[in-house]
Amino acid sequence: MTVLGISGSTRKDGNTAQLVRLILDRCEMAGLKTEFVSLAGKKINPCLGCEKCKEKAWCVVQNDDWDEIMKKVLDSEVLVIGSPTYYYDVCGHLKNFIDRSYSLYHNRRLAGRKAVAVAVCANKGGARTIETLEGFLSSHEFSYLGGVRGKGYLEGDILKDTRALKRADELGDKIVKLLKPVD
Ligand SMILES: Cc1cc2nc3c(=O)[nH]c(=O)nc-3n(C[C@H](O)[C@H](O)[C@H](O)COP(=O)(O)O)c2cc1C
Repeated sequence: MTVLGISGSTRKDGNTAQLVRLILDRCEMAGLKTEFVSLAGKKINPCLGCEKCKEKAWCVVQNDDWDEIMKKVLDSEVLVIGSPTYYYDVCGHLKNFIDRSYSLYHNRRLAGRKAVAVAVCANKGGARTIETLEGFLSSHEFSYLGGVRGKGYLEGDILKDTRALKRADELGDKIVKLLKPVD
């Protein structure tokens, strides 16, 4: 697939999932192939810090869903990665996913892809969530297309944040422009 959206929230259809999907919808409407993955219900164990990945060039932690999702990231041209804000930062579930991408860092396996960051908070801390996502993307040498910070507390609240919805459309359009240049 061309554009992969990941929501790190454990709410399957929560605000982060909805905001990520709005960006994907914009891409689909323009004819791009997209896929959405929610980490809700997925088992993502933490990084062991064993450094065995330096030798193996892949994470050695087994029996969970990390491999399958990371293979999708490797197959994509653009990653739209989103997290709810938990204590002014990304949620732990997504952080586990990110930490294990260290296994791909040694050989710069993710370098050159493009990415968009998405964060939702109820009130405060969304800026740091975006910063953490940017840190992940820049460590892996993604080319950063920009981010969107939305506000919402209960599932679906994000649809009332018109500023975030507009920004999501803009980011979707930016992806489309890059992947489908008009001649
Ligand atoms: C454990 C936990 C910590 C949270 N910490 C913050 C926070 O630091 N700042 C904030 O504004 N909202 C915080 N929230 C609220 C969520 O960011 C908010 O409900 C968001 O919309 C959830 O996104 P989701 O529906 O994609 O899961 C927290 C929620 C939970 C469950």
